[in-house]
Amino acid sequence: MTATILDGKALAAEIRADVKARVAARIAAGKPAPGLATVLVGDNPASQSYVRSKRKASAEVGIESFGYELPATASQAEVEKLVSELNADPKVNGILVQLPLPGHLDEERVLNLISIEKDVDGFHPVNIGRLAQKGREPSFVPCTPEGCMYMIQKSVPKIEGINAVVLGRSNIVGMPVALLLVRANATVTICHSRTRNLPDVVRQADVLVAAVGKPEMVRGDWVKPGAVVIDVGINRVDDPSSPKGYRMVGDVNFDEVKEVAGVISPVPGGVGPMTIAMLLRNTLHGAELSDK
Ligand code: GUN
Repeated sequence: MTATILDGKALAAEIRADVKARVAARIAAGKPAPGLATVLVGDNPASQSYVRSKRKASAEVGIESFGYELPATASQAEVEKLVSELNADPKVNGILVQLPLPGHLDEERVLNLISIEKDVDGFHPVNIGRLAQKGREPSFVPCTPEGCMYMIQKSVPKIEGINAVVLGRSNIVGMPVALLLVRANATVTICHSRTRNLPDVVRQADVLVAAVGKPEMVRGDWVKPGAVVIDVGINRVDDPSSPKGYRMVGDVNFDEVKEVAGVISPVPGGVGPMTIAMLLRNTLHGAELSDK
């Protein structure tokens, strides 16, 4: 059996089309376009490329983006001053501080400063804290975890009661995706570098989310036949046979796992496009919050 391959580009296009229509309706009703401020500190090429993609995708759905770039030498006070100004700016409905920040900056203090109602990345501890509490609603949910859940909901008729295994416990993906799965009434196991008998634990998963940043770590014989496998990894590996000399792979050995899983998300073209689509949706949500 070969798994159904989840087309992240097509799923993301569905979300973008919905956001675009809702933005157009707002503008037709005389409201301003939603505004997204991106904050890029330093010259990390991957971060520059991510921010470019986010701003381009914003323009395509009618979201106005405001790009702020600070040098790698920017001080904590300069970054915090910018975030404070953006918090007070009525044209800005979402603030995205691209991570990682240069090492001399205190990332936690910067994220804590972002207004909870403009926290489109969903990384503010109040929003994460609400996500972790029963009966509480965060203002925003982190984009990549939300994209994973969208894919899981498309693939699993009923999440309630399933065994979900999350590989990785990062603040950005592993932990929030585990919280979302718990909220959806899955039974959730979080695995990490100290987990014993990892393949045996992973083999219990009806749904597996791999977010550890280890190229092709999950092998075919780790996966329960028919499982839904969501691969969040984006790893560059040397490949002299490719024109660029490298290729991108996930945390899952795709060729092996696609022969066992029921559904699998590819890399690239899986979770990646979903992250940006969810950022657009969150920015529109930020504009809706500011109406109230
Ligand atoms: N760096 C890696 N992923 C992300 C993300 O989702 N948001 C931000 N702001 N930075 C990141």
